[in-house]
Amino acid sequence: MNGVRIIGSGSAVPERVITNDELSQTIETSDEWIASRTGIRQRRVITPDQESLASLATIAGKAAIAMAGIEPKDLDLIILATSSPDDLFGSAAQVQFLLGAENAVAFDLSAACSGFVFGLVTASQFIRTGTYRNILLIGADVLSRWVDWRDRSTCILFGDGAGAVVLQASEQDQLLGFELRSDGKGNALLNLSHGASGYVPITMNGGEVYRFAVKSVPEVLDKALFRANLTVTDINWLILHQANQRILDSVQARMGFATEKVITNLSNYGNTSAASIPLALDESVRSHKIKPSDTIAIAGFGAGLSWGAAIFKWG
Ligand code: COA
Repeated sequence: MNGVRIIGSGSAVPERVITNDELSQTIETSDEWIASRTGIRQRRVITPDQESLASLATIAGKAAIAMAGIEPKDLDLIILATSSPDDLFGSAAQVQFLLGAENAVAFDLSAACSGFVFGLVTASQFIRTGTYRNILLIGADVLSRWVDWRDRSTCILFGDGAGAVVLQASEQDQLLGFELRSDGKGNALLNLSHGASGYVPITMNGGEVYRFAVKSVPEVLDKALFRANLTVTDINWLILHQANQRILDSVQARMGFATEKVITNLSNYGNTSAASIPLALDESVRSHKIKPSDTIAIAGFGAGLSWGAAIFKWG
């Protein structure tokens, strides 16, 4: 029983929608510029006195637990992949409390936009060693807190959200292959760093991050496919971190994925960092696009620099 199955998903986004047109009232930009360069039309942003990282993560987690058909007390571990916790000491324990998952140990995992992929692999190791049976993995970020809303080169890109999956021990191992990478040399290309007067809002070299993504993502996907002993045609769905439609299109074309296999929802949410992959996964599962036993390739990439891919069968 040391195989891994992914048996439930859930997601949550804030109520408040900010459209490109609304942004163009406060900064020099336009819906046309943003949509043509990124594919983004709107994003969701938390209302601070009503919503938080932990509240979104909890709603997503509850939905995933319900789909999995287990109870919060059945969870052995909660991994919260986030780079924007409510508390820098970690928000996972707060989520554990809000879920009533009294038997679960909980910790944060920080790997920016690669957080969900890194978390999926980390969670799987605990199952494969026979240590834990039921694990809730949540990818959640509220980067709206860390964006300079006057900086048009970054604020147009990001949005808030949460997505979650439940992993369970099973006879059959449905995690077929993965590859994780880091390169601290590129750290300055995208960061949210601490300076003399506290944390500085997100800074990014957009062009360089773009080039990094379109080169590195196919490499890790190729490696994960090789480990899974599969090729591109064996994959039913490709879910890339939803950063930018042009990055998604370039990776799809370079690797020869059929366009209809690429799942995209970034026009509605922008880049939700660690939440983007499980949010897109959950929407596709709930709309019955993704069916049991479909083979899914995911890839995350972003700050660190960090990037990684995983291939798994759903359900
Ligand atoms: N609205 C209008 N004009 C804008 C703008 C905005 N929101 N943001 C930048 N511009 C301007 C720039 O000032 C520049 O003007 P200039 O030529 O007069 O100097 C011009 O548009 C082109 O800017 P540039 O940065 O070269 O645009 P780009 O085509 O590279 O697109 C990004 C910028 C950010 C959309 C693109 O680089 C990108 O998507 N990179 C990847 C970012 C990413 O995904 N990060 C997260 C990874 S996890």
